[in-house]
Amino acid sequence: MFNLILFGPPGSGKGTQSEKLIAKYGLKHLSTGDLLRSEIAAQTPLGIEAKSFMDKGQLVPDEVVIGMISSALDSNPDAKGFLFDGFPRTEAQAEALDKLLKLKKTAIHLMLAMDVSEAELIKRLLGRGKTSGRSDDTNEEVIKARIAEYHKKTTAVADYYMKFDKVKHIKGEGTVDEIFAAISKEIEGKI
Ligand code: AP5
Repeated sequence: MFNLILFGPPGSGKGTQSEKLIAKYGLKHLSTGDLLRSEIAAQTPLGIEAKSFMDKGQLVPDEVVIGMISSALDSNPDAKGFLFDGFPRTEAQAEALDKLLKLKKTAIHLMLAMDVSEAELIKRLLGRGKTSGRSDDTNEEVIKARIAEYHKKTTAVADYYMKFDKVKHIKGEGTVDEIFAAISKEIEGKI
């Protein structure tokens, strides 16, 4: 089993690169953002609660996303590995994920952290907001709040995995294919 975290600020390209990675390596893609947006579309109580945080650019409470990931791991017993996209986003989520994977006698093997400048992130997200229908992409203040949450709560997750020597940095600017080639190179050495 090979378990990968694709890490980076909002708009760094996690979703874009995930699509290519799952096609190449056959990993099961677990995006907490996508799971939350499905709950919102289905208007479940969880989705209604999550939307109030997401629309402000704030993180959804840990117990909500940890519960979703726990169910997703249980629902995919035959996966050859997982690609975590947008999770973990706090140290508490990272610790919970380690425990869940340990119960399944596996672990995180690699975290790839994509580095992109703030100006480029804002440009990409405002650009996507014109067509995506994502309410958190249309307002620059909300985009800035998401980036601020990342600095306040999420960068600590990279420090957490750094202690276990599991982090590699990737230059997240350039063409999608150039970035994918750099990511694939790091994975080839570990998978
Ligand atoms: P989530 O859905 O995870 O969104 P995000 O982290 O804000 O990331 P994005 O999907 O916006 O960006 P991305 O890095 O995937 O980039 P993408 O490939 O899409 O989270 C949304 C919200 O849900 C959070 O704010 C929070 O409220 C909640 N949430 C989710 N997970 C949570 C958790 N674990 N805990 C608590 N709350 C949670 O690309 C972005 C754009 O850039 C696209 O238009 C793309 O085409 C373009 N692009 C990509 N690569 C390039 C490139 N190389 N050059 C030019 N453009 C590019």
